[in-house]
Amino acid sequence: MRITSLELKDFRNYKTAHIELSDGLNVLYGENASGKTNMLESIYLCSIFKSPRTTRDKELVRMGADSATVRLEVQRKFKKHTILLNIDAQGHKKVAVNNIPVNRAGQLIGILGVVFFSPDEMKLVKESPAERRRFLDVGLCQQQKSYFIALQRYNKTLKQKNNLLKEYRRSENIDDMLDIWDAGLAKEGAYIIKKRLEYISVLNEAAGKFHTAISGDKEKLFLSYENSLEGGDDIEERLLKAIKNSREKDKELGFCTVGPHRDDIKIELNGKDSRKFASQGQQRTIALAMKLGEVVIFKNEIGETPVLLLDDVLSELDESRQELLLKLTSGFQTVITCTEYDLKTPAAMYKINDGSAKKD
Ligand SMILES: Nc1ncnc2c1ncn2[C@@H]1O[C@H](COP(=O)(O)OP(=O)(O)O)[C@@H](O)[C@H]1O
Ligand SMILES: [Mg+2]
Repeated sequence: MRITSLELKDFRNYKTAHIELSDGLNVLYGENASGKTNMLESIYLCSIFKSPRTTRDKELVRMGADSATVRLEVQRKFKKHTILLNIDAQGHKKVAVNNIPVNRAGQLIGILGVVFFSPDEMKLVKESPAERRRFLDVGLCQQQKSYFIALQRYNKTLKQKNNLLKEYRRSENIDDMLDIWDAGLAKEGAYIIKKRLEYISVLNEAAGKFHTAISGDKEKLFLSYENSLEGGDDIEERLLKAIKNSREKDKELGFCTVGPHRDDIKIELNGKDSRKFASQGQQRTIALAMKLGEVVIFKNEIGETPVLLLDDVLSELDESRQELLLKLTSGFQTVITCTEYDLKTPAAMYKINDGSAKKD
């Protein structure tokens, strides 16, 4: 799939901007703080419905303006879609797809597929488990609406349960109530774990190949899902048992300590835990391999290519890896940001200057 047009109004530092994107490589170049990442952020929002860098959506509205709009056209295999996103000064978001208002984020998910590369994403290996779970969730939500729905239900129930654990700590008998929440958490949680296990198994293969290609050495990358369940067949049963086993502890602590919201991706190089032991260079190579794996899985699952958003990542890589990355991503519509572009790969160039965008 590819984005054909992007229009911003009062979004971040843009008063108005309109660019028509090309099929292959698109380069947004300009000085620091000119608005390059802001533009990628607006695209990401039309896909994931969340900003990659803030949870305070009112920051997205240009200072002094009443509301921000992003209008994006995406050409899919059989149909062109127009996504219209509006954010008001309080940070409330509204979306319409092809002029029809969309009430739930679930209806937007899956229309525009993106994979986002940024210096933060390149730190995936050393970040907290929460970042690696986000990596899994973003990948899975885009390709399976059922996953997105299960995750929403799970998070809602978890929040209710944690509120209960916090409020009623030790004072009243809350076990009957907890039994109900726990059954729900085990059901949705088991689905989430099952899908993550499948995803990581495919990711392990795809990322492993990229890792060998990029690093060019013999170190073997191995990715697996890390959770605290004991052995057995039925995930729901095991999860419920684990949740029940930790109930007394969770009551003491005031929050739920078992479930997919605590799990992680285990990352090993030749059997050694990379989250602890990998050098900076190794971490970056692994993260890049995992992101490229995400791209391949998307393409295989959906049967169409996602749009790749590369924010400032070229500057993080040496020249041979830059060329390799652009070679691997040819065949995809790609939007990259940089201060200067001096690679050989031909590209459509857009000059970003203090909240304005102009094609060269
Ligand atoms: N809501 C907003 N209103 C006006 N300007 C904003 C808003 N949010 C961010 N900015 C401005 O956007 C600029 C940063 O843009 P960014 O896209 O991150 O730059 P870069 O080109 O370096 O990627 C900063 O000057 C910042 O002040
Ligand atoms: Mg930037």
